[in-house]
Amino acid sequence: MNVASESEREPTLRFKITGTGAALPERVMTNADLERMVETSDQWIRDRTGIRERRIADEKTATSDLAAEAISEACAAAGIDVEELDAVIVATSTPDTVFPSTACWTQRKLGIRGMAAFDVSAGCTGWLYALEIAGGLLAAGSAKRIAVCGAEVMSRSVDWHDRSTCVLFGDGAGAAVVELGDGTTGYLARNWGADGNLAPVLYQPAGGSQLQASADTVARRLHSVHMEGNAVFRHAVRSMSGAAQQAVADAGIGVDAIDLLIPHQANARIIEATRERVGIDRDRVYSIVDRYGNMSAATVPIAVDHARREGRIHDGDRVLMTAFGTGFTWAAGIVRW
Ligand SMILES: CC(C)(COP(=O)(O)OP(=O)(O)OC[C@H]1O[C@@H](n2cnc3c(N)ncnc32)[C@H](O)[C@@H]1OP(=O)(O)O)[C@@H](O)C(=O)NCCC(=O)NCCS
Repeated sequence: MNVASESEREPTLRFKITGTGAALPERVMTNADLERMVETSDQWIRDRTGIRERRIADEKTATSDLAAEAISEACAAAGIDVEELDAVIVATSTPDTVFPSTACWTQRKLGIRGMAAFDVSAGCTGWLYALEIAGGLLAAGSAKRIAVCGAEVMSRSVDWHDRSTCVLFGDGAGAAVVELGDGTTGYLARNWGADGNLAPVLYQPAGGSQLQASADTVARRLHSVHMEGNAVFRHAVRSMSGAAQQAVADAGIGVDAIDLLIPHQANARIIEATRERVGIDRDRVYSIVDRYGNMSAATVPIAVDHARREGRIHDGDRVLMTAFGTGFTWAAGIVRW
């Protein structure tokens, strides 16, 4: 654990992550596989994104299947049965169905009922939004044990003919069991925000009330990710680093007191630019983007799970998480573990 300045405050939002879990499809798609599908190269993908491979769900796997697996694992790690949860929150941009929520489908797959279940739509920032909501529910006494999950089957929202987007994404789910704890753990500082004016920069045009599904929307490939890559890149760096710097300042600690930075993992260059602006050494940044690509809302919780299991996060550590996503949305927070 790194030393904090004397001005470090008590958590502003109290919670304890008592268990984490992850679900990753078995099928690995490498850059060489993509070379056979679109005009691209392993070299281009690695240079521009840092991604070597990603996981792809089979046809029978829906987002809720991955969510259920990750939540089961998180509950096992927390030492509770899934029935003991009193809320299930799933952050996703690739829901099972437009309605009902993926969280409700996840309940069904887990064979549980009764507790509240709902989705959060905030793109790649979704899991941090869901954690903020969970902390508020715990503080309000609305729930005691909440599953906070980020789950995506991005491969079903990707246009496999569009080389500028299909190389970026992967499938997976990550989950945490969040409880109130003894008051010493939780967010030392955090912030969240959005700028909906940037909605058209990264979105799925068809399938909602703006443009309902039709033979024409399918023919025009409008049920997939449409993105202005350069604009996303600029805003990503600005919002992720800005939110992280704000959290460090609000926590009343120096950046040297951060034990680990877990950024949203869209792209190794975005992670590096964010790291540089925040001013954290490379050995305190956790990255899995080379193995899994961008799994949207699942990325941060899977990174948290892997970091925990690899012994990179210890009780008492200060872990800075920061993310951005479609919307645009952004959020950052420093958890005292
Ligand atoms: C998508 C991204 C990797 C593209 O990198 P870039 O350096 O901005 O590249 P450009 O878009 O300027 O494209 C450069 C060239 O590479 C080409 N190109 C795009 N994708 C390619 C691919 N997979 N393989 C080979 N060439 C590709 C482009 O067509 C362009 O060619 P041109 O110069 O002949 O027009 C980058 O913009 C990015 O990471 N953006 C953020 C995306 C993101 O994180 N989205 C999710 C947000 S949660």
